[in-house]
Amino acid sequence: MCGRWILRDRLKVFSGSSNPELAEEICACLEIPLGKVHVSRFANDNIFLQIQESVRECDVFVIQTASPPVSENIVELLILIDALRSASASRITAVLPYYPYVRSDKKDQPRISITAKLMAQLLRAAGASRVLTITLHSPQIQGFFDVPVDHLQSTPVLCDYFSRLPCIRECVAVAPDAGSAKRAGMFAQRLDIPLAFVDKRRIGNCDETLTRAVVGDVTDKHVIIFDDEISTAGSLMGAVKVLQEAGARDIYVGCTHGVLCGPAIERIAKAPIREVVVTNTLPLTPEKHHPKVRVLSVAPLFAEAIRRTHTGHSIDSLFH
Ligand code: R5P
Repeated sequence: MCGRWILRDRLKVFSGSSNPELAEEICACLEIPLGKVHVSRFANDNIFLQIQESVRECDVFVIQTASPPVSENIVELLILIDALRSASASRITAVLPYYPYVRSDKKDQPRISITAKLMAQLLRAAGASRVLTITLHSPQIQGFFDVPVDHLQSTPVLCDYFSRLPCIRECVAVAPDAGSAKRAGMFAQRLDIPLAFVDKRRIGNCDETLTRAVVGDVTDKHVIIFDDEISTAGSLMGAVKVLQEAGARDIYVGCTHGVLCGPAIERIAKAPIREVVVTNTLPLTPEKHHPKVRVLSVAPLFAEAIRRTHTGHSIDSLFH
């Protein structure tokens, strides 16, 4: 996807501080340099940010992912977009490999904020003219925007990897809860393997889940659990337990966002899991490295989506 192509004038890519490696890789695929930005702090801890090249009438893409420190990175992104708008960029696309507050997408308890919607409003207020993101926890988040949202999927990247497993013809794709059955179904369809799902219920706000049973036949089958993200790996451990009880053989995991916080790595290390495959939407900091965790790059996918957005070509056709 990164092959040579003729860029129209005036495509520029900038990055915040959250995942510079991904931004560099995207630019390498596009064969353009990453835009220059100076970021520093005033004595009072306020962010000072200056775009260090002209963006007048340019089609600008700004990459920032919601990695820790999440709030700092959000504010930096908003300031970056505002600075680009003030500098007369003609169009600004917020490229959000991991959407901030993606799981706060509904009012399911009294007196809480739908923070994913607040993020959309802030991005618009700052000056974002469109959004490019991947694997939203719920695709309905697109409706929080009144500008175009391109929602990528990691299916081509993860399926390309899993399709090479020697045991792929004996595998079952597993959705770790009913909510992710549609997403896991896309993987099952692309890999041409059966689908099963786990009956999981969430208890309160404290990342605690109750996992009951597997719906579908996994006995004597290898399984690949497909999820949008692994955060504390609590849901994953529940799924692994019931899959083992149901007689599954080797257990693989594929997910887009390797949040991997709190006890996640320790849990994965101890669990009877063969391999966890994540993408680089979030940086894998050294404490998250583990021989069981493999990282695939979504940079070529984002680069191609940026190229197509810039040149006015279909993004949907990337997934067929
Ligand atoms: C849940 O609805 C999501 O799809 C993931 O399963 C969840 O975000 C993972 O969180 P944790 O790893 O903390 O269980």
